[in-house]
Amino acid sequence: MANKFSIDAKDFDGPVLLTGAGGCIGSWVLSLLVDAGVPVFALDLVKDTRRPKLLMSDSELGLVKWFVGDIAEPSTIMNAVEESKATSIIHLAALQVPFCKADPIAGARVNVVGTINVFEAARKHKLTRLAYASSIAAHGVFDAKTLATLYGAYKFCNEQTSRVYMQDWKVPSVGMRPGVVYGVGRDQGMTSKTTVAILAAAADKSYTIPFTGPVSWLHAGEVASAFIKAVSQPRTEAVVFDINGVSSTVEESLGIIKKIAPGSDINANGSSLPFPMDLSDDPLRAYLGDYGQMPLDEGIAQTHSIFRSLLEKGLISADKLD
Ligand SMILES: NC(=O)c1ccc[n+]([C@@H]2O[C@H](COP(=O)([O-])OP(=O)(O)OC[C@H]3O[C@@H](n4cnc5c(N)ncnc54)[C@H](O)[C@@H]3O)[C@@H](O)[C@H]2O)c1
Repeated sequence: MANKFSIDAKDFDGPVLLTGAGGCIGSWVLSLLVDAGVPVFALDLVKDTRRPKLLMSDSELGLVKWFVGDIAEPSTIMNAVEESKATSIIHLAALQVPFCKADPIAGARVNVVGTINVFEAARKHKLTRLAYASSIAAHGVFDAKTLATLYGAYKFCNEQTSRVYMQDWKVPSVGMRPGVVYGVGRDQGMTSKTTVAILAAAADKSYTIPFTGPVSWLHAGEVASAFIKAVSQPRTEAVVFDINGVSSTVEESLGIIKKIAPGSDINANGSSLPFPMDLSDDPLRAYLGDYGQMPLDEGIAQTHSIFRSLLEKGLISADKLD
């Protein structure tokens, strides 16, 4: 994995502070940074290392100091930056589509106020290495073909926030709008079902993906690597890019899964996802340089193989697949 997503510790001038470290993408960022020998501090609402442990050994995880706190509280990130002496922030903490819909105020606190808190910390500490996660759902604000969601509205607000922090206070940042992320650790959110299908195949269980048609397949390691690359040098502007991964379809992935696990019983049913699934990564790659690339068949095979090994060791369960 390290070869595919190569990271050079010499590019970093101090520790990285990672919010949302216990999440899917956060776990991959942690794992890649520790593997490369880059000092990293984790921040999350709770110290739940369930997902990072799917990718890292206990001794690797032991190298990571964990800050526990609510990103919506201004002191959480401010104290973490001061204590860690971080020179970069990768900000991933957020509530996803269903959680924002279920509790719009909590969604706004975490996704909007939380992100303002991160920008305030970057402003106070004059950080020039800040990357944050927007989402393809932000397209819902300006593209009538994309489902409008509160989550997307909050993410778009983050993008506007980044522009104003650059304009008014010279706080540079790199925002990325990930498509559908898949891979080990992806277990929640409306688009997590392609990964659930790979888990089902690894556990020899039947599963029906509740959507069909076009899907962007963005490997969690690939997007993690892009976030790391974004803070691997000081920045001078506020930019936002799509990051889509491989444009494919649910149907094509069913064929790949069948080849890897001929006895599997994975199907798909339902309408297509109401988000753009074929956005270009070229502008991001031109800006960041090479951050690695995971071909779809290899990414599905790798995810299936890691799931099988985790299932055998009893480190994950496929009892409830939803
Ligand atoms: N996974 C995807 O397909 C996808 C697509 C587009 C954008 N994104 C964005 O990328 C980022 C990471 O996604 P992910 O899939 O790893 O998400 P995830 O849901 O797996 O992880 C999010 C993490 O944020 C933490 N968090 C939530 N509320 C918090 C709070 N108040 N304070 C501190 N931490 C808090 C959670 O505990 C969790 O560990 C998010 O910003 C998400 O919106 C993800």
